[in-house]
Amino acid sequence: MKKLGVIFGGMSTENEISVISAKSVLKNLDREKYQIYPIYIDKRGEWYKYIENSNDSEIEEEIRNKEKITNIIEYLKGLDIIFPVLHGLYGEDGTIQGLFELIKKPYVGCKVLASSVGMDKVYTKIIFEKAGLNQVKYEYIRKYKNKYIYVDSNFNEQILSIEKIVETISRKLKFPMFIKPSNSGSSVGINKANNEEELKKYIEYAAEYDNKILIEEGIDGQEVECAVLGNEEVIASCVGEIISAEEFYSYNAKYNDEQSRTYIPANISEEISAKIQKQAIKAFKAINGSGLSRVDFFVEKNTNKIYINEINTLPGFTNISMYPKLFEKSGIPYKELLTRLIMSCN
Ligand SMILES: Nc1ncnc2c1ncn2[C@@H]1O[C@H](COP(=O)(O)OP(=O)(O)O)[C@@H](O)[C@H]1O
Ligand SMILES: [Mg+2]
Repeated sequence: MKKLGVIFGGMSTENEISVISAKSVLKNLDREKYQIYPIYIDKRGEWYKYIENSNDSEIEEEIRNKEKITNIIEYLKGLDIIFPVLHGLYGEDGTIQGLFELIKKPYVGCKVLASSVGMDKVYTKIIFEKAGLNQVKYEYIRKYKNKYIYVDSNFNEQILSIEKIVETISRKLKFPMFIKPSNSGSSVGINKANNEEELKKYIEYAAEYDNKILIEEGIDGQEVECAVLGNEEVIASCVGEIISAEEFYSYNAKYNDEQSRTYIPANISEEISAKIQKQAIKAFKAINGSGLSRVDFFVEKNTNKIYINEINTLPGFTNISMYPKLFEKSGIPYKELLTRLIMSCN
C-alpha cells in the first residue's frame, strides 16, 4: 500500500480552515488504497504526527493527539505521496511545494510556479491579462517604509505619500473599490471603499498584511465559481454560485454567517456557464496549473459580462466546500475525486 502523507494546519491565517478541510479529507480517503500519515503543522511552524483516534476520526479544533516530528525531511522521505491540505501562505504559495521538489516526492496539486502566481493577486492579474481574460480595472501599489510606491502597468515606479496615492487611484478607478493585500486568502485584510477617506484607511489596513496592495473597481453582480481537475487533460465542473450574507464575501460571511448560501448550479444561462468553464480551464493553463484549482468569477448585473476574479490552487476541501461539491454534482463523488487527485500526481 502507498504511504500517503496528509499535511494540514500551517502557518497562515487559514490554519483553522485547513484543519476542517483535512478533517473531511481524512474521513473520505480510500484506506484500502492508501496508508495514511496525517501531519499537522501548527501556527508557529512546528510539525507533528497527528495520531488519529480509531473510534473518532474527527480532528478537534485544537490538535491534542500529536507527536513532534524532529527530522521533517527524513519523515517526509519515508512517504510515497504527499497531499498538502493547506491554505494560504506557506501552504498554497509554492514554498512547501519547493520542499517537496527538493526531496523529490510526488504531491497533489499545483507545482511551485503555479502556486506562487495563484497566491499573489497582482501577479495572477498580470498573467490573466496576458491570457486575454476579462478582469476588473485595477491598480498596484507597494508600501515602502512609511510611503507608498505607485507601480504603473509598465512597472515604472513612483514614490508617493498616502494622500497622493489616494488622489492618483481615485483619478484612475471608480468607487466602490476593493482593497486587497496581494497575498491573502479567506478575505483577510480585504475591504470595500466607497470614498477617498475609506480608500486611505483600507490601504493602510491592507498594508499591515502585505507590502503589495491591489486596488480594484467593484463589480455589482453574481459571484460564481468553477472547479477544474487534471494535468494535460483538464476538465471543468459545473458552475456554482455564492450568495453572501454580508455586503461582500468577507471572512465572517464565508465561515461564520449561516445566512451565506451556495447554489449548484449557479443561476446563470447555459451559454454563460459554458463560457465560464472554458475560461476556468484557460486560467488554470495560463498559470501552468496542475492537479486542481477553483476559479472564481463575477457575472455583472444587467450586462452579463464575465470578469475573472481569482484562482485558488488549494481550495477549501470540507464536505460543504465548493470544490468537492461542484464535482460531486458533475458526477465525481468526493472519495473518487480524492483518489483521482492522488493518482494524477505521479
Ligand atoms: N472587484 C470586486 N467587485 C466586487 N466584489 C469583490 C471584488 N473583489 C472582491 N470582492 C468580494 O470580496 C471577496 C473576497 O475577495 P477575493 O479577491 O475573492 O479574495 P480571497 O482570496 O480572500 O477570497 C469576494 O468573494 C467578493 O465577495
Ligand atoms: Mg475569493
